[in-house]
Amino acid sequence: MQQQTLPPGIERILITAEEIAEANRRMAEAIARDHTGESLVLIGVLKGAVFATADLARALAETPGAPSDVQLDFIAVSSYGNAHRSSGEVRLIQDTTHAIEGRHVVIVEDIIDNGHTLHYLRAMLRNRRPASLRAAVLLDKPYHRVVDVTVDYTGLTCPDEFVVGYGLDYQERYRTLPYLAKLRPEVLPV
Ligand code: IMP
Ligand code: MG
Repeated sequence: MQQQTLPPGIERILITAEEIAEANRRMAEAIARDHTGESLVLIGVLKGAVFATADLARALAETPGAPSDVQLDFIAVSSYGNAHRSSGEVRLIQDTTHAIEGRHVVIVEDIIDNGHTLHYLRAMLRNRRPASLRAAVLLDKPYHRVVDVTVDYTGLTCPDEFVVGYGLDYQERYRTLPYLAKLRPEVLPV
């Protein structure tokens, strides 16, 4: 690979843009197998999953046996906690624009770590009685899971590091990097 100048604060690239695209294609194939011919709603979790949701939706459109129709909606949550990790207290910041009762739904999340965020979202959306509810997560960090939550589609296993890029931020920075990267340790508070 050609030598690349990294932005200040970035130590190294952990997952390349090509690896992310390949993971999205694999998830799209699995989603298409489960939803062939169905009308599907992808609910992206803002802001972290904004690129994952867009890229997964487009990969789905190019996948044979795709759903008959894919609609996009978004939800925003935030959780109290420290800079690295969410707490059990998840808060709804912005709801979807359309009702999901009777619809086939796939939640799209950027990353799962302790599991609180996805657990909260699954419970909240399940209460609205969708026809089916599944979750696609681009990055799985299985090392610090606190709540047992089902992930139906996993893109990649993430190293046990705080990662930024491809939607993921540190204090709202680095979201627009096309790859996933490790921050320099001196950037993160201890
Ligand atoms: P969980 O609630 O611990 O499963 O974590 C999910 C949320 O925590 C994600 O949606 C992210 O907002 C945040 N998060 C967890 N790990 C990372 C990371 O390595 N980088 C950036 N955000 C992260
Ligand atoms: Mg997120």
